[in-house]
Amino acid sequence: QLPALRERNIILIGFMGSGKSTIGNLMSKKLYRDFIDVDTYIEKQQGMSVPDIFREKGEEMFREMEKEATVHLCEKERLKILALGGGAYSQSEIREVCMKYGIVILLNLSFETWKERLPLIQENRPVLLNKTMEEMETLFYERKQIYSLNTLEIDTDGKSEEAAADEIVHLLK
Ligand code: S3P
Repeated sequence: QLPALRERNIILIGFMGSGKSTIGNLMSKKLYRDFIDVDTYIEKQQGMSVPDIFREKGEEMFREMEKEATVHLCEKERLKILALGGGAYSQSEIREVCMKYGIVILLNLSFETWKERLPLIQENRPVLLNKTMEEMETLFYERKQIYSLNTLEIDTDGKSEEAAADEIVHLLK
């Protein structure tokens, strides 16, 4: 049986550095719901950081862990706020389980704004390692298409994280 709308997990998706974790934490306080960052969940489960998992086990293994963790959390949890990793939505099983059990919200930002944030996030994002700006731009727009499948979305450009969190809370009322 599918969860009632009010009990569904709110699932934040978007590119690396779009503010999923920060905004998710702020929403958690505003809505009195627990926040689960799926990457952090995987890191605890594996006892290893995401960059270390990429380095030691490879991306393919990480994607498998990501799929298992996301499907598990979507099926078992209720009334939570989840933040997915930026690549999670590329897997069709993840998209399906999120749409089936959750309310998915895309945090949209422009490539221009993202570029400004790049120095803050580049270090521990293995997917960005050794990529040229052009390659990152291609990935950004490829992902953007996948994220927009069937989601509510908010634009975060020029907004504080607090304002973005307020906007989502309002959108969900
Ligand atoms: C990834 C995004 C990261 C993390 C991993 C891969 C991606 O999550 O899951 O480094 O492929 O976009 P954030 O979006 O939280 O940075």
